[in-house]
Amino acid sequence: MVLSREDAVVLDAADPLSPIRDLFEIAAGDLVYLDGNSLGRLPRATPGRLDDFVRREWGAELVRGWSSWMELPTTVGDLIGEHLLGAAPGQVVVSDSTTVNLFKLASAAAAARPGRRVLVTDDDNFPTDRYVLEGLAASAGLELRILHADIDEGLSTEELTAGVDDDTALVVLSHVAYRSGALLDMKAVTSLVQDRGALLLWDLCHAAGAVPIDLDGSGVDLAVGCGYKYLNGGPGAPSFLYVRRDLQPELVSPIWGWFAQRDQFAMGPTFQPHPDVRRFLAGTIPVAGLVALEEGVRPLAQAGIAALRAKGAALTSLIIELHDAWLAELGFRLATPRAADRRGSHVSLEHPDAWRICRALIERRGVIPDFRGPDRLRLGPAPAYTRFVDVWDALDRIRQVVLTREFEEVSDELPAVT
Ligand SMILES: Cc1ncc(COP(=O)(O)O)c(C=O)c1O
Repeated sequence: MVLSREDAVVLDAADPLSPIRDLFEIAAGDLVYLDGNSLGRLPRATPGRLDDFVRREWGAELVRGWSSWMELPTTVGDLIGEHLLGAAPGQVVVSDSTTVNLFKLASAAAAARPGRRVLVTDDDNFPTDRYVLEGLAASAGLELRILHADIDEGLSTEELTAGVDDDTALVVLSHVAYRSGALLDMKAVTSLVQDRGALLLWDLCHAAGAVPIDLDGSGVDLAVGCGYKYLNGGPGAPSFLYVRRDLQPELVSPIWGWFAQRDQFAMGPTFQPHPDVRRFLAGTIPVAGLVALEEGVRPLAQAGIAALRAKGAALTSLIIELHDAWLAELGFRLATPRAADRRGSHVSLEHPDAWRICRALIERRGVIPDFRGPDRLRLGPAPAYTRFVDVWDALDRIRQVVLTREFEEVSDELPAVT
């Protein structure tokens, strides 16, 4: 029997994470926000913290503020590392975008394996990952090998095993696939790649804050991830990077910036990088963004990743259950692994009219999912604040929009941002 709306309300009442939802700005009304995996909601503490930062720290302390702001990349990095990444202190820093951090780590890794000429990723990896590797391969005279990954089920072990050899310097993979939500086994994949002598860089953008990650325990070499999705750091939030402690002295950033310099304000004649992970900083750090990100991570630290994962799995299971009951007969197909331990916290549904359905939901039904090509409606419930009743309402409204053919009344023109 399909869960009723009343059942969903009962589940919410019993949800141990319901106090965490109260830590976010959520206007009264019935907007159903299922895009926390593109841009997380605003934590209630963030406006006050930013106001204090702007008026007191910037406004009154002026340049003296730098004595404490300098610590932010490592303190915020350690906070994320401890609560969300399974990383002991001193291995995570926050600054720059994911793209820039990916470039820094990929370049350093390729240079650390000089006898090997191949960079490996898969054709379903996020575009920026593929483009950065394409550019790196072109500029460093390396070969980019793109493995084929199923866009619903993710990269298979067979494909990866066949694609990594003793000429491979670096493999770059997403822990949770951006479109399907397919989740790779971090420990098994890390061992497989390392056994062949290559380094592995994980993109954690769709995983951090959604699934438990044990970077230290899995022996991971390198990782990057963004601050604006589940981490709630706001649009343009800086991203984090992880370099395992024993690799830090060996790897050199391709950007020799002064924030990576050991004795920065000595303004010395040559580049002498920090011996630790700060050697992967580059230029002036985005202080306001770091302050906001710290507030974004706090509710997750309070909730605990185990509880967040349990709730995320329950929410995505409910999406799949309602899809099977209501949507499968309306032309939808599940485009995400069915097993909860094989997916992150979002679900994609394939439908030939996915774009117009998405648009109709946003413009007419107060539901915000997103669209990912070629024909996927992506639903990303954020375990920190999405309720079971939100998922129920969203799936009910998707059903209505298709049953009534209401989606045919909206334009099928794709805007610049989807
Ligand atoms: C998996 C993944 N990697 C990388 C990026 C790009 O990150 P940034 O825009 O911070 O460089 C995104 C952005 O959505 C992403 O989802």
